Amino acid sequence: MPSEPALASRFAALTRLLAEGQALWRPLPFQHRDVPWGERVPGLADALQALSDDEAWRLQDAPFEASPLADWLPVDALAEAVDLPHLAAADGALPEAWGEGIGARKWRQIQAFAGRVAPKREASLVEWCAGKGHLSRTLARRDGRLVIGLEWQPSLCESGQALAERQRQAVRLQRQDVMAEDAGDWLGPDRHALALHACGDLHARLLELAAERGATVTLAPCCYHRTAASDYRALSARGRALMAEHGLTLSREDLAMAVQETVTAPAGVRHHRRRANAWRLGFDRLQREVRGRDEYLPVPSCAYGRLPDDFAGFCRWAAERKDVTLPIDVDWASFEAAGWWRQAEVERLELVRHLYRRPLEVWLALDRAWRLVEAGREVRLGTFCDRELTPRNLLIETR
Ligand SMILES: C[S@@+](CC[C@H](N)C(=O)[O-])C[C@H]1O[C@@H](n2cnc3c(N)ncnc32)[C@H](O)[C@@H]1O
Repeated sequence: MPSEPALASRFAALTRLLAEGQALWRPLPFQHRDVPWGERVPGLADALQALSDDEAWRLQDAPFEASPLADWLPVDALAEAVDLPHLAAADGALPEAWGEGIGARKWRQIQAFAGRVAPKREASLVEWCAGKGHLSRTLARRDGRLVIGLEWQPSLCESGQALAERQRQAVRLQRQDVMAEDAGDWLGPDRHALALHACGDLHARLLELAAERGATVTLAPCCYHRTAASDYRALSARGRALMAEHGLTLSREDLAMAVQETVTAPAGVRHHRRRANAWRLGFDRLQREVRGRDEYLPVPSCAYGRLPDDFAGFCRWAAERKDVTLPIDVDWASFEAAGWWRQAEVERLELVRHLYRRPLEVWLALDRAWRLVEAGREVRLGTFCDRELTPRNLLIETR
């Protein structure tokens, strides 16, 4: 069955659902003292606050399963719209030894991705944004043919090239800025372009050039918000028309929501994030009082492992960055408790955004797929691995 009608109806349904839900998923709950959509959906905020911690955490991981939000929100329609086919690997597993020098998770992603790459005999393989060329090396080894990896960082090209030579694999890591004028020279009807987790503008550029020049594409997109434009302009004409018809707008910040999923984070990292958030919210309460202004003050995030040892230390760190002078007699314990309390509240309100996260990501992938459909290509969209391996598990492929 041709894939276009299925993609088209999914694209239209998701645009409508996302547009109708804009007032709910767009506001960031931690920035607002009152629930931003409280009056629009009476009863929902109270139901969320009544959830136990376990139930709230379960819904973070599985927003569509047995969701109490279904009494207010179109949970089933959203679930159906994001239920994509799993694109099974065409080939068997690759030898584990080939994963030497590659992180365990990345290697499993590469195995799953490579399983979807079945190049035509006459096609030359080109990896877009190749890093050290782990995928290129794997495919060169599997298929016994040259793979060209495009990468702009000279140090990655050098170390990746050395790795390929050590393993005697036919890989050429080519220094290339894929945003440059001449990047299209690497693509053509006889080329099969691969991109595993290429970010926003980088994969958009690949799609544009592949649509223009006719290369086959296997792409797992990532980081849609890494883009120069602050307001999203759909890549496909259909995407632009649907956005206009339904009144859907997307800013760069909105795009970031599509990839804010922590499903692969280990428990320790999750705990660290919750504590960082609670402290941030505790500091927010404190700064509102100290500055006498009831408004949110954005504080930069602390890199993992850099979080000060205690709440007071965190507040001093944040105050210094934001030029806030703290009094000497702060009741740290009560502001920290307020932060944790608010964290629990925000975490529950965030469940509304969780529900729309995957729909937004699938919508963005559909826009990318549709750009290729408009170029006359037969396109498939599905998942290439379980989301436990990477939440960025969507794959767009042309034949
Ligand atoms: C997210 S990494 C993905 C790397 C690899 N595909 C993987 O899955 O591990 C993106 C890569 O794109 C490269 N990159 C960023 N901007 C680029 C550009 N303008 N041209 C070429 N490569 C670029 C980065 O240096 C980085 O190696």
